[in-house]
Amino acid sequence: MDTGRRLRAGALLRLFGNWKPGRRDIASSIQGHITQLVCDGRLPFGTHLPSERDLARELGVSRTTVAAVYDRLRASGHVETRQGAGSCVARGPADTSEVATPWYPVGTHAEIDLTQAALPAPTELFADLLARAAPAASRYGEGHGYYLYGLPELRAAIARRYTDRGVPTTASQILITTGAQNALALSLAATLRPGSRVLVEHPTYPNALAAIRRFGGNCVPVDLEPAGWDCERWREAVREARPDLIYCVPECHNPTGLTMPEDCRARLVDIARLAGAALVVDETLTDLTLDEPSPAPLSRFAREGMLLLSIGSLSKVFWGGLRVGWMRGPEAFIARAAAVKATLDMATPVLEQILACYVLAELDAIVAPRRAQLRANRAALMDILATSMPSWQTATPTGGISAWVRLSAPVATRLSEVSRKCGVVITPGPLFGIDGSFEDYIRLPLTLTNEMLPEAMRRLVHAWATVRDTRAVEPPTLVATV
Ligand SMILES: Cc1ncc(COP(=O)(O)O)c(C=O)c1O
Repeated sequence: MDTGRRLRAGALLRLFGNWKPGRRDIASSIQGHITQLVCDGRLPFGTHLPSERDLARELGVSRTTVAAVYDRLRASGHVETRQGAGSCVARGPADTSEVATPWYPVGTHAEIDLTQAALPAPTELFADLLARAAPAASRYGEGHGYYLYGLPELRAAIARRYTDRGVPTTASQILITTGAQNALALSLAATLRPGSRVLVEHPTYPNALAAIRRFGGNCVPVDLEPAGWDCERWREAVREARPDLIYCVPECHNPTGLTMPEDCRARLVDIARLAGAALVVDETLTDLTLDEPSPAPLSRFAREGMLLLSIGSLSKVFWGGLRVGWMRGPEAFIARAAAVKATLDMATPVLEQILACYVLAELDAIVAPRRAQLRANRAALMDILATSMPSWQTATPTGGISAWVRLSAPVATRLSEVSRKCGVVITPGPLFGIDGSFEDYIRLPLTLTNEMLPEAMRRLVHAWATVRDTRAVEPPTLVATV
């Protein structure tokens, strides 16, 4: 069907973001971008695509390449072509990524695991806090134990933290969840409909992409520049995609470590408000800024009538095994999300929540040494990368637990396969993107101390040499890791 909407080649190129013809498989890259635009609704059904000649000229590629792309899009059902009428967006398959592939730790003890951007619990303090929490736990045992919204004292403690950060909050605006992931899932379950469009930073946290898809959303990527968020680009993306929801990680972004500057915050909230889109702000890593204090939370800029949800947890500041997180939002929405939670897990475990109260009371004392440790690990990683991998580019992350490393060739998936054979497991860039983007990136965690880092790098360097030089090379001898 031709709806009459004609897209010029220049307009299509703008929708590609900062696309540039790479050295490899240009046709797949163009095909991937167009498929994404069709699936996320920015190229609606019936849109008339540019001619092969115009698009080839605009993209700076050969006409044969564009012809091959259109052939493939016809074969996949995303585009249809009529004699004399050119090519239009077909109904095609909606979002083909219906089966979401979430990320979860995969390392074994024989390997050095660089896939987990999470620190172990602070051992001594952990035992101490457990001992302090035990009497309260047995007192709770006398009651029924079902707290759909969470323990009142934990809700109050989290509300106080928001108030202290300049966002007046009552306990009734807090829902305790089983980690930030649960808070995200509840936000999505209570807001999305099948086919809803969700704007996401690109790259972004893989399990957010998987959750959005699982709840029927189509992810619309907005490129995160090496310098950070480009508000104009967000404004354009909102105009084009008309999203139902925007998901962002404004502090210590996973995987880049970037933090959104102060001036962009009010603008992004305003963009969401004007578009009538819900804004989900993931603050899981907020307390881990490494150089400067966190700027004012996005919720400071929320206005009457908009839906802004903040989600967070104790996973990154204390321990991922303590499955305690939260959602902050308008009271009426908190009730809606709680109703969804009742159908899923009834409530977050009480013992975890009691421990969380004690953790929160000590949070500042817990976070300070963690930041110091992360700064030291970051310095060690940057040093070793500069000496052993000078062809890779890494901007020093200003927060969080990971570095986003640009390889000198788009071989991240192959590198991750070969690395595993060499005894080190890494996360390839495409996991953080849509449609195979970021094949020239890997994420490395800031978790390794000077003790393990040289051995991890030795294995990675070896894997890199193997990938660059396809001759079979014996893997290095493994050393035991814990
Ligand atoms: C940005 C972001 N959000 C949410 C989560 C999930 O956190 P939790 O373990 O509290 O569910 C993570 C975990 O890595 C994360 O990086």
